[in-house]
Amino acid sequence: MIGIDDLALATGAYRIDLAAVAERLGTDPAKYYKGLGQTEMSVIAEDEDIVTLGAAAALPVLERAGRDQIRTVLFATETGIDQSKAAGVYAHRLLGLSPNVRVVELKQACYSGTAALQFAAALVARNPAEKVLVIASDVARYELGSSAEPTQGAGAAAFTVSADPALLALEPAAGLFTADVMDFWRPNHRVTAIVDGQSSITAYLEAIGGAFTDYRAQGGADFAAIDRFCYHQPFTKMASKAHRYLAQRAGSTLDAAALAAQVDPTMAYNRRIGNSYTASVYLALLALLDGEADLTGERVAIASYGSGAVAEFLTGTVVEGYREGLRTATNEQILADRPQISDDTYLARQRTMPRTDPSDYTNRHETRAPFRFAGVREDQRIYEPTS
Ligand code: HMG
Repeated sequence: MIGIDDLALATGAYRIDLAAVAERLGTDPAKYYKGLGQTEMSVIAEDEDIVTLGAAAALPVLERAGRDQIRTVLFATETGIDQSKAAGVYAHRLLGLSPNVRVVELKQACYSGTAALQFAAALVARNPAEKVLVIASDVARYELGSSAEPTQGAGAAAFTVSADPALLALEPAAGLFTADVMDFWRPNHRVTAIVDGQSSITAYLEAIGGAFTDYRAQGGADFAAIDRFCYHQPFTKMASKAHRYLAQRAGSTLDAAALAAQVDPTMAYNRRIGNSYTASVYLALLALLDGEADLTGERVAIASYGSGAVAEFLTGTVVEGYREGLRTATNEQILADRPQISDDTYLARQRTMPRTDPSDYTNRHETRAPFRFAGVREDQRIYEPTS
């Protein structure tokens, strides 16, 4: 039995209510609240980025489990901060991991956290004494004023993969799907993604459908035998759309309320954080585990999508006693503690961050997270503990 042993989240220091964005863009806030299923977006502090978010998510996981069994760190991100050096190497130092660890970064839009999960499971199968630390961390950015703007966000999920996992035991079947489509991409010279919004929704549905068909062909469970579905959530309504689409494709006879019960409890965190790209599907899993009273023995699907496009559909069963490993109150506190910023403050930040000019700079001390991005000297990013 191999699977997810522990799972924690981190997010940006601030939040903006999407009603403020709607007012500036002359849009009915109901379009965002109901139409997209999003209420807020997390916004990072000046001294936060994917490294500080990812390390903050990983810290409680390592504090609980210890560092000795970790021999691999897989850092999944769309928001790479260097063309060469893996973001996970900075996180490795901040987290005090042993030098006898391999660290690598993985990229395929929002999908690569799931590739990391599978690679981690394979490493653990070879040596069950090891645990692999997976960090999925992203800051989603689109052009200001575009229809994609309300689907930004920032967040990280960190999890360990082990033999004898405490949360989710993975099942062997996995369904895969890849197609070369241009629905969302980000050339090296850009800090915001280029996206064809409506075609990205079609590409997402077709890829998840294709991955599910392959999952069934690989011996995966019938749709009717899966209890809960965690989808990648660029906005939470996308998960509802995907679930209805998959149910229809699979010939499900469940009514709308029964389908909603399988997916709605996965949305509580992403609705408030926004799109966290690689982390999103794992924040969906965490919201499900935190939010429901008892899921013991239930089969849960992870439906992962990354534009471009790659999708994977896999399942696991919730392990008996899993509630003892949750940090439900802490997770709520992390979200509730984000001060709300005005649209003007948010706009000023978005216009100046991230800095891409080659000069040295020092970031103001803003974050309350355990690690901070202090600035850049001679093209080197400086990370340090906050206290
Ligand atoms: P849009 O085109 O402005 O919105 O942007 P819309 O007109 O399609 O409306 C959205 C929904 O709001 C619709 O609901 C409207 O009916 C409803 P639907 O019909 O689809 O169920 N609506 C209202 N509801 C209540 N009251 C109102 C109201 N008005 C309208 N007054 C879009 C939407 C998602 C296209 C845009 O935000 C965007 O481009 N976002 C970025 C791309 C994206 O998130 N794509 C999702 C699939 S691709 C993916 O997930 C990968 C990704 O995460 C990247 C990666 O892999 O790294 C993006």
